[in-house]
Amino acid sequence: MPRKASSYVCQECGGAHPKWVGRCESCGAWNTLVEEAPAESAPRGLGARRGRKITLVGLEGSSETPARRVSGIKEFDRVCGGGMVAASGLLVGGDPGIGKSTVLLQVCAALADRFQCLYISGEEAIDQVRLRAERLGLSQAPIKLAAATNVRDIVASLDGKGAPDIVIIDSIQTMFVDSLDSAPGTVAQVRASAQELIRLAKRLGFTVLLVGHVTKEGLIAGPRVLEHMVDTVLYFEGERSHQFRIMRAVKNRFGPTDEIGVFEMTGAGLKEVANPSALFLSDRQGEVSGACVFAGIEGSRPVLVEIQALVAPSALATPRRAVVGWDAARLAMILAVLEARCGLALAGNDVYLNVAGGLRITEPAADLAVAAALASSLSGTPCPPGTVVFGEVGLSGEARAVAHTDNRLKEASKLGFTGAIMPKRGTKGGRNQGLEVQAVDHLVDLARMFPAPPRLAQGRRHG
Ligand code: TYD
Ligand code: MG
Repeated sequence: MPRKASSYVCQECGGAHPKWVGRCESCGAWNTLVEEAPAESAPRGLGARRGRKITLVGLEGSSETPARRVSGIKEFDRVCGGGMVAASGLLVGGDPGIGKSTVLLQVCAALADRFQCLYISGEEAIDQVRLRAERLGLSQAPIKLAAATNVRDIVASLDGKGAPDIVIIDSIQTMFVDSLDSAPGTVAQVRASAQELIRLAKRLGFTVLLVGHVTKEGLIAGPRVLEHMVDTVLYFEGERSHQFRIMRAVKNRFGPTDEIGVFEMTGAGLKEVANPSALFLSDRQGEVSGACVFAGIEGSRPVLVEIQALVAPSALATPRRAVVGWDAARLAMILAVLEARCGLALAGNDVYLNVAGGLRITEPAADLAVAAALASSLSGTPCPPGTVVFGEVGLSGEARAVAHTDNRLKEASKLGFTGAIMPKRGTKGGRNQGLEVQAVDHLVDLARMFPAPPRLAQGRRHG
């Protein structure tokens, strides 16, 4: 019998190649191929055996709504869409050291009095997990611990009577299926281990939470197929130097995506942040030029955050553009629109943009706030005090209305803001929640709010 050749599998996308190449032909990633032994022989075609008939039903019919396992940690429950669903798989991704193990241990402990929770660690010894629990003040929680990496052993221990309700696997990259030859952490192993564990979870009705490491490109290490296999994908993110941590749902079969949960890393674990706006604005410097408050929406919740810009004459032939927390391409667009449509001379300047507090904004509604911060920094004129800004900007410079205007204004009013700069088109029919609204039709209207003082004008404006 001829020896089955091993194949070379891309660790990014899972694509298989018969021989080694430097660049994956499926996804184009470089240097990601790893030799893996062939999978157990898959049946070729369907053969002669006939299948069973499947039953077809209509859309109508009664299905029970899934029971939710609510931990009481509100930030976590909301990101899950109102609690975790029985017989489902969740993937929790994030950089090393961001707090995945910590938050999951806390969630586990919060559920342990009502549900049977199991924490299986493949990375840390039992003692390390115990030490962490002690630090978190949770050592009394009735959680069952295990240190294991062999999926066959885990499946054998869970199967049978008294199956648990919640199982945490920390992390999926350390798990292996012993029928495969490849090393733990390779695509084949990650995929096979996850498949076994999720299949068991669906069969026995428990919720399995898989911790997944993130590569330097920001993807969950291992194949993207992992994201397709689970029902919910949560990313835990934040700057390590900040104490804020944000949990974001990027996929959820049982709830909305783009929902965020905000936590604060303290000496005693992660604390929920019920009012993120107050936290993000807590370090604000009052009236300085180049800063303005953006009224954003994250998931179902309004979040106010400060956007800071610094525009300074550049000594370089190609001025620097640096962005933290926002899209660099979007910044380039706003700069071009300010330059071409409003005549602001930004070309010879270095531009730095920062979303304070470590939040990452993806909403186009931040356009107007970014433009205001830039215009304010260039002119040296501070933003009007107590004012929030939001709105989308089009390529011709027109300010476009955005959704959830009411929610944004309400949150601003709740936090003591008295004014709002927003697109004129969005003001129609809307109530202004007691705020003084300055409607902007075009970016030119916004630029006019930031006149350069005459003395500064010459030095700051180029060309
Ligand atoms: P951890 O949950 O181990 O991260 P991950 O599982 O994502 O790799 O978190 C580790 C970091 O969190 C570590 O740098 C120490 C910090 N930490 C605290 O600041 N306070 C705490 O109470 C705990 C348990 C950890
Ligand atoms: Mg960990």
